[in-house]
Amino acid sequence: MPRFAIWARSVADLQRSAPGSRNDTIRAQIQVARRKYVAGVLIEWRGEFTSDEANVLHAAAFHTRVYDAAEWDWRLLVERHSLGWVLARDGGELVGFVNVLWDGLVHAWIQDVMVAERVRRTGLGTRMVAAAADGARAAGCETLHVDFDDSLRDFYFGACSFTPTNAGLIDLQP
Ligand SMILES: CC(C)(COP(=O)(O)OP(=O)(O)OC[C@H]1O[C@@H](n2cnc3c(N)ncnc32)[C@H](O)[C@@H]1OP(=O)(O)O)[C@@H](O)C(=O)NCCC(=O)NCCS
Repeated sequence: MPRFAIWARSVADLQRSAPGSRNDTIRAQIQVARRKYVAGVLIEWRGEFTSDEANVLHAAAFHTRVYDAAEWDWRLLVERHSLGWVLARDGGELVGFVNVLWDGLVHAWIQDVMVAERVRRTGLGTRMVAAAADGARAAGCETLHVDFDDSLRDFYFGACSFTPTNAGLIDLQP
């Protein structure tokens, strides 16, 4: 099977592939759990988390109400749609999250980048974005995309080293 066709298959397909196959190797690259501690905070690629934890963090980060898991089932969504995700835990508490989506081949992008207020401006967000880039690179992706408000230019262009590019949005539910 040509390389691009293998990459184009979904993670779910890869999970069903036979042990020992080329797909198994790719699956391992995508799913391998990478974890490291930085200043006592555990940063982990594709670690375990609950939707309730993610909803609490999301509400604090984006000033929304706390959705319940039936309304926003992060676990289900990331398993179905994401290449991976990055977690940060401080003493067990979920204090950071980055969702890494992809086209199944070469493009990945980050969404839902959030760090709990009490640990902001410690470099955690920057490290988590770097871990997201590492995860996408390991899966064979060639570019990592993000979009953001003007107020976060210093974070993404400065700290995280994204380069400016043209991008666009259509508001589908104005
Ligand atoms: C944006 C966010 C993820 C940054 O996380 P963080 O852990 O505080 O980021 P870092 O500590 O790695 O920041 C590194 C540098 O980026 C810049 N930066 C970080 N947050 C910034 C902000 N809110 N405004 C402007 N610059 C910022 C600063 O230059 C900072 O360095 P400094 O602390 O020495 O000044 C965090 O503020 C957050 O969760 N915000 C709410 C949710 C959100 O808006 N997410 C982004 C969606 S696109």
